[in-house]
Amino acid sequence: MEKKKISILGSTGSIGTQALEVIEKLQDKFEIIALAGGNNIELLKQQALKFKPKYICIGKNTTERIEIDGITTLYGSEGLNEICSNKENDIILVAVSGKIGLKPTLKAIENKINIALANKETLVMAGDIVMAKAKEAGVKIIPVDSEHCAIHQCIKDINQVDKLIITASGGPFLHKTIEDMQKATVKEALAHPRWNMGRKITVDSATLMNKGLEIIEAHHLFNMPYEKIDVVVHPQSIVHSAIEYKDGSVIAQLGLPSMHIPIQYAISYPERFEGIKSKSFSFSEIARLDFEKPDFEKFPSVKLAYQAGKMGGSATVCLNAANEEAVFAFLNGDINLFDIYKITNKMMSQHKLIKNPSIDEIFEIDNEIRIKTREIIK
Ligand SMILES: NC(=O)c1ccc[n+]([C@@H]2O[C@H](COP(=O)([O-])OP(=O)(O)OC[C@H]3O[C@@H](n4cnc5c(N)ncnc54)[C@H](OP(=O)(O)O)[C@@H]3O)[C@@H](O)[C@H]2O)c1
Repeated sequence: MEKKKISILGSTGSIGTQALEVIEKLQDKFEIIALAGGNNIELLKQQALKFKPKYICIGKNTTERIEIDGITTLYGSEGLNEICSNKENDIILVAVSGKIGLKPTLKAIENKINIALANKETLVMAGDIVMAKAKEAGVKIIPVDSEHCAIHQCIKDINQVDKLIITASGGPFLHKTIEDMQKATVKEALAHPRWNMGRKITVDSATLMNKGLEIIEAHHLFNMPYEKIDVVVHPQSIVHSAIEYKDGSVIAQLGLPSMHIPIQYAISYPERFEGIKSKSFSFSEIARLDFEKPDFEKFPSVKLAYQAGKMGGSATVCLNAANEEAVFAFLNGDINLFDIYKITNKMMSQHKLIKNPSIDEIFEIDNEIRIKTREIIK
């Protein structure tokens, strides 16, 4: 079988490094065309020497240069676009964090290259445009997020599905009070009980905004109305999500909480390989699975995300930009954890909705919201 040609945007991040661990075990199945990182030049260099891609791409803000024989070095967002224009690729894993993922994803779609999508901001900011263009171009978007990957595995015929059920671990503050959350340190917010992820998404998991963003992501990926997307808290993170068919049958996808599995699924789809699987799943070892309703008072961000999603248009751009700026401010020690919601809510309440923004308008709105959010934080 011919090797599948893949490029990874964000190879130096949490998803990117785990994707390389997956590929290391499947060297006879994958050939790496390009690896792209941001500022972590040293790690990108090590990855390039080990995996020998044809291209590497480093963030524009870095002044350092990498020169390795036989490897072409690209820079910044132009470099990401160049990778996504290279039709040698069978699939591109978009695992950069933040809005930087949107344009390369659109470029890959334009070039009819399938996408394994980890970067949720792409769909939160421009889900209508991205999914319409992918459909028109016949491009597959395979979700990497464990919940969406689970749903993708459960669905046989979307027209027969009545409801999506997204699970949430509940994060580090599941059994803490609102007062505890107000006093939470950055270290506490970053101490996720189940998943080891990048800092931004880990804070979003602590406030449950991550679940809110996932609801919006699910709406676009599976074309499901918001009224038919439920969230349930499941602290063990074994059931990764489920769907309910019209006849009441519920199909869930289960597995040990490891991102290797959804990453491998997304880049290998529609094939399945043993790959990095460490051990077989055992119900008796797991013993119990708990489920509870989310507490929207403690985690109001979930409601805010439903509200933004239902408003549609530029509302989710506002939600994403305001939340991200507030998360950075929290990580910087400028505000407390609960302020992230308060600031995002304030920005949402002031936002003047644009119904069908173009990509250029989306970036303009994103920029404006970020500037205003930073002013409020000051
Ligand atoms: N981690 C998870 O388990 C998980 C699960 C589901 C979905 N996701 C989603 O996947 C995406 C990545 O998450 P992550 O946790 O892997 O984040 P992360 O660890 O922070 O990694 C982000 C990656 O993006 C690169 N990057 C950031 N800004 C860039 C820029 N301007 N230009 C080029 N590269 C840039 C970083 O490069 P440097 O580090 O070299 O600067 C790094 O490789 C996010 O959208 C997240 O929501 C993550």
